[in-house]
Amino acid sequence: MSHAPTILVFDSGLGGLTVFRETKTARTDACFVYLADDAEFPYGDLAEEKLVDRVTEVLAEAIARHKPDLVVVACNTASTLALSQLRSRFAVPFVGTVPAIKPACAQSKSKRVTVLGTQATVGREYTRALIREFASGCDVHLVGSPRLARYAEAELAGVAVDDDAIKGETAGCFIDADARRTDTIVLACTHYPLLLERFRTVAPWTVDWLDPAPAIARRVAELLRERPLHSAPAAQTIEFTSGRTPSPALAQALASFGF
Ligand code: DGL
Repeated sequence: MSHAPTILVFDSGLGGLTVFRETKTARTDACFVYLADDAEFPYGDLAEEKLVDRVTEVLAEAIARHKPDLVVVACNTASTLALSQLRSRFAVPFVGTVPAIKPACAQSKSKRVTVLGTQATVGREYTRALIREFASGCDVHLVGSPRLARYAEAELAGVAVDDDAIKGETAGCFIDADARRTDTIVLACTHYPLLLERFRTVAPWTVDWLDPAPAIARRVAELLRERPLHSAPAAQTIEFTSGRTPSPALAQALASFGF
């Protein structure tokens, strides 16, 4: 009898937890390993060549050690750059996280959509190609944030970030021109759903914030559909490449994700 699948969820830090929590709901029996490459956080600041090498190296080690049945790259900054290379290098299936431009443009009524991600993600050819292919008549505005991923990590670790700081990073997402206001904002960094309530608080008007995590979880479930669902509860572990021990505040936050 086959045993429950092992799923490796990978990010530069803890943003991938937003993908992990959805994936866990979609595949309750899986054994999850969450790997945060916090020794090199934030990925948004890394040069492209260095990032590809780093992700390949960290995943090579983790794949050899955990032998996952599937790897979720829960990071837009890494996926938009390294996904095709990872797929050709490793035999295990990969599910990536890339900006949800297609569904955002399909649902926008005002035809004004913003993609909010790291500066690296919004600058990538991969993201621009998605816009060329899927904008379907929408004006797509790109906003690269140098700080939001750090703010999300700080908040998780119990360090408060004030509203003005959050507003400073998100204000540029809201365009009101030619009688059309932005109505949909793509959360193109997995850290950002951790700040969603804060985004809503400082937003000048109501928009739909598109979190790709449910779609990623569905894709994972689909790829593992041949593996029968087991009744045993999921096992989960978290690893940090820095080897750090979480502070009490962070440990409490991690406990809310079941760690
Ligand atoms: N969570 C990440 C993403 O989805 C990366 C943030 C960073 O390390 O800069 O892009």
